Amino acid sequence: MDLNINGRTALVTGGSKGLGYASAAALSQEGAKVAIVARNEAMLHKAAETIDAVPVMADLSDRAGVLACVDKSRAAIGNPDILVINTGGPAPATFADTTPEGWRTAADQLFHFTIEMLSAFLDPMKAKGWGRIVVITSFAAEEPVANLLYSNALRAGIHGLINSIAAEVAGTGVTVNAVMPGFILTDRMTGLGLDLDKVAASIPAKRLGQPPELGDLVAFLCSDRAAYITGQAIACDGGLMKGI
Ligand SMILES: NC(=O)c1ccc[n+]([C@@H]2O[C@H](COP(=O)([O-])OP(=O)(O)OC[C@H]3O[C@@H](n4cnc5c(N)ncnc54)[C@H](OP(=O)(O)O)[C@@H]3O)[C@@H](O)[C@H]2O)c1
Repeated sequence: MDLNINGRTALVTGGSKGLGYASAAALSQEGAKVAIVARNEAMLHKAAETIDAVPVMADLSDRAGVLACVDKSRAAIGNPDILVINTGGPAPATFADTTPEGWRTAADQLFHFTIEMLSAFLDPMKAKGWGRIVVITSFAAEEPVANLLYSNALRAGIHGLINSIAAEVAGTGVTVNAVMPGFILTDRMTGLGLDLDKVAASIPAKRLGQPPELGDLVAFLCSDRAAYITGQAIACDGGLMKGI
């Protein structure tokens, strides 16, 4: 299937490894001109070289860093036709572990970051009459996970935000969707200290996912073919989520 995005520009944040990298790799393979954003310079440059992307070094954890990312990305590829909003996950916590400062940090990291990226790049897409936005969230947005309070709360808010925006811009050629990873084998996943054998046994597919399985879904949602899919939150989870 030709996704018909050859020559489109794409910006993928958190793109040097894991799910962002897999999404960037899939988009690059389809012929998009991709820029990837991350903090670790060596890893960023190696990843960019591997998938023929443009490296953009920025720290997305606060507003100043996000605005710097916007400027540097525009300088690198212009306003992107395709935007994949993704970053590192927040710290694990039960509600008893959370603090006002922790909430502010997590809100900046996930929620305000998403708003800044949308504020910067949505209008140029509308003006062009074509755009694809995918936000990588988590199955925790719909099925809260023990010990991931910040993620549970903030990702659900992001779904409300982007579902509303999708409806507002649906007549402009711009689609906005969320992709919800289940348990996918990345550094983030191995760093959570979970018993991954037990996790695999709890998933109907009996295994964790591989990053390219999610990257291919992202690339499809960013394609011409997916023009009529918007305002959705789509899981890539081996059957983990049970809601009908
Ligand atoms: N893997 C899963 O199964 C899973 C499940 C549910 C939800 N998620 C969520 O999906 C997202 C991606 O997860 P992942 O597993 O791909 O994580 P990962 O393997 O840790 O990769 C995170 C990427 O984001 C970059 N990054 C992190 N913090 C950043 C910052 N402040 N500024 C700029 N770049 C930053 C990292 O590079 P640098 O560190 O060099 O900046 C890296 O490229 C996370 O929000 C995670 O919580 C993942």
